Order: sequence, then C-alpha cells, then structure tokens
Amino acid sequence: MEVIIQSTPAAAAELLARLIAHDLRAQPRLVLGLATGRTMESVYDRLARMHREDGLSFAGTRTFNLDEYVGLPASDPHSYRHYMQEHLFRHVDVDVRNTHLPHGDAPDLDAECRRYEELIQQCGGIDLQLLGIGQTGHIGFNEPLSALRSRTRVKALSPVTIAQNSPLFADPAKMPRRAITMGVGTILEARRVVLLATGTGKAEIIAKAVEGPITSMISATALQMHARCTVIVDEAAAAKLQGVDYYRWIFANEPEWEPYRCGSAHVG
Ligand code: GLP
Repeated sequence: MEVIIQSTPAAAAELLARLIAHDLRAQPRLVLGLATGRTMESVYDRLARMHREDGLSFAGTRTFNLDEYVGLPASDPHSYRHYMQEHLFRHVDVDVRNTHLPHGDAPDLDAECRRYEELIQQCGGIDLQLLGIGQTGHIGFNEPLSALRSRTRVKALSPVTIAQNSPLFADPAKMPRRAITMGVGTILEARRVVLLATGTGKAEIIAKAVEGPITSMISATALQMHARCTVIVDEAAAAKLQGVDYYRWIFANEPEWEPYRCGSAHVG
C-alpha cells in the first residue's frame, strides 16, 4: 500500500483524476470500477472537464460500480445509477450500455449478484477500482463483519452508515436498509485499487484502515493485502496517521510519482 498526502481535498481529487486519465489514455478499453459518495463528486467533475477541454475519451471504457441500494429502480433520484448519470456519464462520451451497476430492483437479488460477478469476469476483470471509505470503514457497502473473501451480495446497512447517508435522501426515513455490493474478495481482485478520503471526519478511520490490524470489522483494512493499492488523502484525513514522514518521502522521491508531483507537467 502507498499513501499520498495532498494539501487540500481539491488537490487530492485532482491527483486521482489525473491517475485515471493516464490509465484511460494508455488503455482505452480500460475496465474501470467506480464509487459513489460525496468525496467522488469532485473527481467526476474533473474527469468531465478533462473530457470537454482535453479530449479525454471514455468511448471504449467499460465501468462497474461498487454498489446499489436494494429496492431503488435506476430512475429513482436517490439511486447510484442516477448519481453516476448526473455526476459523470451524461458529461462524457461513455456508451451507457457499457456502464454497469447492480440492479437494486431485480426480482431475484441472489441471481442479480451472480450475474454481476459473471459480467465482471466476462469483461476480463477490473483494471482500476476507485474506492471511497465510509465511517464504518466500509469499501463499497461491506459493513463490519463482511468476510474478507466475500463476493457480490446483499448486505444490511449498519446504523452508522444509515446516519451517514440518509441526509442525502429527500425523506431520510426512506433510505433503503440494504444494498447490493461487490464483496471484499471481488474488490481485491481488481488489478489496481485507489482509495480517496478527505476531511477530518475520515482521519480516524483512515488511520485504522492503513495502519491498524486487518479485521473484517473494518473492510478497508483488507486493502493491506492488495499488491497494488494507493490511498490518496488530504492533510485533514491524514491527521491521525503515524507514518506520514515516510509516506511523504516516498511520494517525493519515487520515480513513478514524478509526473504527479506539484509543479510537474500535466500528464492526464
Ligand atoms: C457510500 C458508498 C461507499 C463510499 C461512501 C463514501 O457509502 N457506498 O462506497 O465509500 O459512500 O461516502 P462519502 O464520500 O460521502 O463520505
């Protein structure tokens, strides 16, 4: 795992957008794993701008989102399909038929979960998976006690997650109590994963996820087992990490990060 600390949330989002743009340009048929949540909105803003201003193309990309609320049709304004449509898909040239999210309103949810896993396999697996982190330490909606080898399935949302996400619903009481989510095992199979977290509210959970012991109580700790995992944080979210000097040294000195350092030429 490597940790990159940026001065502000905007700089952290910019770095992630540049990383995605770099991979997309190198591999136009990239299979991109997408995440939702407030933190990702500024990343999608930047990708939309790169499409408009620098010709970044999503035409060959296939996308798979991490999760979707159970019971919400795609047309529901609170669904993650709607979120993706609003924040990214309608602003870029992705073929909407190549954008995938679990169907939260499928009549047979277990069959839907199996279908989703098979579709990821048919596309050759996920090349780059974006992740946020919830207050419980969830990645996707892998709430506490999610098996570290779990696959796409239905998960009951914890009270902490309901408190975190229900303000996003017009009627908070109507937030679904369950979601379909890629499993921890599904996420760990992505060739590369990048987690973005910003703000003081994430400092505690980031310290546990990065430097704490691996536990199914905090599914993000499983990322410590991934061979190619990058965690991008702003100063506020980095505040409780012990090893910041070392992490800063790596980012400042490793050749891989040269194009992404402050003042470097644009690599999008
Ligand atoms: C939701 C998503 C998670 C994401 C989290 C982060 O819960 N299911 O995948 O990590 O949001 O939310 P925010 O960025 O709003 O803090």
